[in-house]
Amino acid sequence: MVILIKQSSGIKSSEITPKSIYLNRRRFMQRSLAGSVLLGMNAMLPAWAKPWEGIANSAFSTSEKPNTLEAITTYNNFYEFGTGKSDPSKNARNFTPRPWSIAVEGECARPGVFDLEDFIKSETIEERIYRLRCVEGWSMVIPWAGFSLADMLKKFEPTSKAKFVEFTTLFDKSRMPGQERRVLNWPYVEGLRIDEAMNELPIMAVGLYGDVLPNQNGAPIRLVVPWKYGFKSIKSIVKIRFTETQPSTTWNIAAPREYGFYSNVNPAVDHPRWSQAKETRIGEPFWKPKHKTLMFNGYGEQVAKLYEGMDLKKFF
Ligand code: MTE
Repeated sequence: MVILIKQSSGIKSSEITPKSIYLNRRRFMQRSLAGSVLLGMNAMLPAWAKPWEGIANSAFSTSEKPNTLEAITTYNNFYEFGTGKSDPSKNARNFTPRPWSIAVEGECARPGVFDLEDFIKSETIEERIYRLRCVEGWSMVIPWAGFSLADMLKKFEPTSKAKFVEFTTLFDKSRMPGQERRVLNWPYVEGLRIDEAMNELPIMAVGLYGDVLPNQNGAPIRLVVPWKYGFKSIKSIVKIRFTETQPSTTWNIAAPREYGFYSNVNPAVDHPRWSQAKETRIGEPFWKPKHKTLMFNGYGEQVAKLYEGMDLKKFF
């Protein structure tokens, strides 16, 4: 089935990439295309070459300095590839995130199973530099490449019964060796209330630092919800389901007293076993957390309205 997606924005990469870089890139591409045709090497190009050229930086980006690519790709939480921070970068090395399809189900007028390439083809991919605050007390600044979750969801025409959106990670022990161990209830699942999902901030990320998403960061496509603790940002998504009732979420199943459905970053609500008042930016000393945790991770202007009248101690 082919998805009906809005026309691309019509912005030429020459308009958003500095002209010298753009011209050099054109020359490079023309030359390498000529070279590969001559050598018959087209078949050797990776099937998942990045689906964008120059990308515009989003107005929602933070101006804070991003963490290094090295830090972002070697300090990960991705239990499907091991529970240690350095496990995913080692154990996800041979993961092949293609071919990849995504099933869209539930309360919507246009469900279907879509090939990843069709899924993202006419989305407007931009760079969004977001702070990711992990529930464990550390944070990172990551230059994602992705597109608006809301814009994408609207194309499936959710019905009036769609009150929540549930996301599911791939479940395949042969490709994700960490799933051999029952450390979590596989597959990893997450969810958002529909108005949270339709907010302007969440993105489906398909890259970082200008290139395709490294396996350990959730290739080929993952969610990023910057005002919530990092575990809401589910990786390697294969299913999106619109539901009438609140979906179960992996960490809530694992430890319901510690991890709620909402999981908004909130310095006033401690984790039962530690304070959330401060955080350490990866790269800085862990024993001296110097950053005050910000309500909604600093994104209150865009999202505080979603929770008006709610007791966020109860709905943690
Ligand atoms: N998604 C899946 N499928 N499995 C996981 O273990 N870990 C979560 C989240 N998404 C996780 C996941 C947690 S706890 C965090 S902090 C972020 O991914 C980490 O993302 P990063 O490794 O790209 O920094």
